[in-house]
Amino acid sequence: MKKMLNIALPKGRLGEKVYTMFAKAGYECPSILEQNRKLIFENDEVGVRYFWVKPSDVAIYVERGAADIGVCGKDILLEYAPTVYELLDLKTGICSMCVASKKDYIDNPTRPIKVATKFSNIALSYYSSIGRDIDIIHLNGSIEIAPILELSDVIVDIVETGKTLKENNLEIKETVLPYISARFICNKSSYKFKEQQINELVSSLKEQVEVK
Ligand code: PRP
Repeated sequence: MKKMLNIALPKGRLGEKVYTMFAKAGYECPSILEQNRKLIFENDEVGVRYFWVKPSDVAIYVERGAADIGVCGKDILLEYAPTVYELLDLKTGICSMCVASKKDYIDNPTRPIKVATKFSNIALSYYSSIGRDIDIIHLNGSIEIAPILELSDVIVDIVETGKTLKENNLEIKETVLPYISARFICNKSSYKFKEQQINELVSSLKEQVEVK
């Protein structure tokens, strides 16, 4: 009998897309598609339990072993550096991370740049790599508002379609990370105990990624 696999998926569009890949790989759990507010779904027959969690929390569940495996963006892995195995690039949820500002913003090199972001560690390491002092303003969302209200000079944030920047009259100034995508991650001790099962799942997901 298969051992139960606990899988943390990011709530939202990316998670739903990724669920269909897992289902194709043999880990179906039809109850997950029911329209309700449940967060945990189980299919004993195939031995799987899914949790919908906040995208930025997936790595915490996996790192601490509450989930054996999960899917989260490379941005989260770079920001929080969790102790997990990164086993596969699912090549979906593709975006970049950029510095953006109001169109008329001009940098004053004599003072630190005020940077609003959800990704403080990534922003700090980027600006330190180019030798520029910054003043970090850590926010949890709607980052694009910060330069408009002059809370910050620039933002460091995810750009997918570029629509949010455009609709808020902001523009890209620099690219911090040109390629971010969803990654399959695994808890280190789960990998020891469920290695065969996890490897089979990774192989099936890999095939699906390659035929895309
Ligand atoms: C993300 C990101 C940008 C937007 C980029 O926000 O922080 O705001 O998506 O996508 P686009 O280039 O396709 O417009 P998210 O939806 O996660 O919201 P939040 O940052 O306000 O939490």
